Amino acid sequence: MFDFLKYFFINILLIVCVCALDILLESDSVTVSNRLNDGYQNINDIDLNDKNYGLYHTSKHVFYWLYTRYNTEGELLNRSEPHLIESTTFNASNPIKVIVHGWLGNTQEKDSLCMSNVNSYFKVGEYNVICVDWKQYSTDLSYSVARSRAKHIAHDIAKILTRITYDLTEGVETLHLIGHSMGAHIVGFVGKELTNKIPRITGLDPAKPQYENKGPADRLYITDAHFVDIMHTNSGNNGFTKSIGHIDFFPNGGKRQPGCGFSDKTTGSCSHIKAYHYYAHSIWAKEDYVSLKCPSWDDYKAHKCDNANSTFMGEHVDIEQTEDYYLEAWAED
Ligand SMILES: *[C@@H]1O[C@H](CO)[C@@H](O)[C@H](O)[C@H]1NC(C)=O
Ligand SMILES: *[C@@H]1O[C@H](CO)[C@@H](O)[C@H](O)[C@H]1NC(C)=O
Ligand SMILES: *[C@@H]1O[C@H](CO)[C@@H](O)[C@H](O)[C@H]1NC(C)=O
Repeated sequence: MFDFLKYFFINILLIVCVCALDILLESDSVTVSNRLNDGYQNINDIDLNDKNYGLYHTSKHVFYWLYTRYNTEGELLNRSEPHLIESTTFNASNPIKVIVHGWLGNTQEKDSLCMSNVNSYFKVGEYNVICVDWKQYSTDLSYSVARSRAKHIAHDIAKILTRITYDLTEGVETLHLIGHSMGAHIVGFVGKELTNKIPRITGLDPAKPQYENKGPADRLYITDAHFVDIMHTNSGNNGFTKSIGHIDFFPNGGKRQPGCGFSDKTTGSCSHIKAYHYYAHSIWAKEDYVSLKCPSWDDYKAHKCDNANSTFMGEHVDIEQTEDYYLEAWAED
């Protein structure tokens, strides 16, 4: 009886804690850390609905790292310079790749979205790879708050790209934006802002929570670029379930990826990040990712699509192809 009561009270306590946590996450104000608090006397002075908040503050908290063949360590772009690239190794003859991480993402770690793709690009050619670092908005804030910042971050990226491309006159035809998770929606917002200017957007397992049921204005959408390609690696969990691009790839069915441990069944985080490991691999090993147009994973496995159109998943996708593609995929980089 006593044990039962103890158990009962512990449960009540847990429920109260979880509810309180939910309220904290929803209220969007208490999780803002002091680091983001510059210019404000009090944390409560930050008006999260203030449309101008991002205009004043993103410039202090979003960073742009340029990588080229001649500077694989990366150099921080200097916002005080008119086009930001004056004193860098940026080479206007080469394609521009812009890479945007997701919530809790980062740029510098070896296995990050940024570094794995930077390393792959320089294995095969000359590029200007720009990694956007918005982790000060990401690691310090709840998912909901980060999400409420996404359009401000996108606005900043659009401004920066406009400067680098001399008001969208130079190098725009090579612009390719790549975003993972929430970063996929951020690059979508950049595309909406630079109307009809972006040739290609790649969404790597675009974030599902608080996005899946949103309309065109509030998530990555097919009209955000001339060509939108999507990779689904944890669909239905962290990643989008629906097909939302011109072409959507579902490696291994799109829900769970091989090589992920037991905890991945619930968290899905390993499958979720496989999207960018596959992408990095696709840059130099496209033949590993031959995909077939197919209505479902079951049909694919039953060889019903063996004679269908095929293309490469990832960097070397054929932009003439549309709809859903399936393949078996690995990444051992
Ligand atoms: C950024 O550019 C400005 C203007 O050219 C210059 O004065 C400043 O030293 C630069 N900052 C860095 C860190 O290079
Ligand atoms: C810029 O890139 C082009 C083509 O990749 C190359 O031919 C040229 O030498 C590069 N210019 C500089 C200054 O590195
Ligand atoms: C197959 O690909 C070609 C272009 O390579 C395209 O014209 C055709 O419509 C595609 N067929 C299907 C069923 O998608």
